[in-house]
Amino acid sequence: MTDPLLAYRGEFPILEHTTYLVSNSLGAMPRAVPERLAEYVDEWAEQGVRAWGRAWWRLPGAVGDEIAPLIGADPGTVVMAGNVTLAQATVLSALDYPPERNRIVMTELDFPSVRYVYDRLATRLGAEIVVVPAAADGISVDADAVVAAIDERTRLVCVSHVLFRSAFVMDVAPIVARAHAMGALVSLDAFHAVGVLPVDVKALGVDFLTGGVLKWLCGGPGGCFLYVAPAVQTALEPSLTGWMAHEHPFAFESDMAYAPGVYRWLNGTPAVPALYAAIEGPRILRRAGVAAIREKSMRQTARLLELADARGYPVRAPRDPARRGGTVAFDVPHAYEVSEYLLSRDVLVDFRPNAGIRVAPHFYTRDDELDTVVAMMDEALTTGRWRDFQPRGGAST
Ligand SMILES: Cc1ncc(COP(=O)(O)O)c(C=O)c1O
Repeated sequence: MTDPLLAYRGEFPILEHTTYLVSNSLGAMPRAVPERLAEYVDEWAEQGVRAWGRAWWRLPGAVGDEIAPLIGADPGTVVMAGNVTLAQATVLSALDYPPERNRIVMTELDFPSVRYVYDRLATRLGAEIVVVPAAADGISVDADAVVAAIDERTRLVCVSHVLFRSAFVMDVAPIVARAHAMGALVSLDAFHAVGVLPVDVKALGVDFLTGGVLKWLCGGPGGCFLYVAPAVQTALEPSLTGWMAHEHPFAFESDMAYAPGVYRWLNGTPAVPALYAAIEGPRILRRAGVAAIREKSMRQTARLLELADARGYPVRAPRDPARRGGTVAFDVPHAYEVSEYLLSRDVLVDFRPNAGIRVAPHFYTRDDELDTVVAMMDEALTTGRWRDFQPRGGAST
């Protein structure tokens, strides 16, 4: 049976000469991206500063509107941000942390960069970070443990939708229900969810959601986004702000007056080329359909588990398909060196400490490519060619 999603392979030039299994880190570049970047170059060259008024000013919201359907959001509720760390910093900057309601609930397995900014900035603003530990398996977090950590002192819950090392899919619904029952808000870091599994901000009921286009949405670096639910969008005033968030941005008034819509969640001048690069990937994903992508992803990650089990390779990935996101981490011996061997053979994957070699099929992946990546791991290990690659930071395990 032919896989209709393979029809999209032609949109991604790099698939012609590599086995591309690293969309959990950087999605393949769509063929049409150079055209979008040429548009930017032409506007700058021909229109000069007038390009701001004609096209560029609208971009942080217009590109957000391209992403909105992929998360079930309405137009005007998503804005672009340079990265997720900054988008989450904007969220935390919009809240007050009086001693009786100053707790922010996070987990041990959230993305470190997000933890860093909460640990450093939110605590300076008076917050106390409550970290829910990993479950006994080391690759997941028990949603009940997160629920139990939320009480009337909780101001915000900021957790990952899909954990970055193991691709464990958190059960978000009870967390949101508990947070709202306790009068807390929820900021979901959905970087490893959007584009590979269905996400619906309204069904989830989250107040904020962050993600980026560079991984599963094939939109390149610099195109991250922040969804802000209508109920909180204009009720809050982010302190991490700037002129783009002003209701009269071009008046350059000395006092801040927040824009009425989602632009109040912006700050300074956006990186315009990154926004042009971000447009094509989400459009292709919308055409392909996230439900079909998810179905294929569950099938292909199951196949990777089978291949690993047949060889006795340890994997750090959930066995339950419903709890497994798009990546399977092979914790093989000498994983870093083996990953370098794969890269040298044009099999693109990545390596993360405490995870191993992360293998991430996407909608454009052929089934035979799954056999290729595992066969290459076999080859590196049985021939000892992994030794040709330098260990990362000393001894390898
Ligand atoms: C869950 C998660 N959040 C955030 C990030 C990246 O954050 P930033 O855009 O600030 O680099 C990643 C990157 O891998 C991630 O996996």
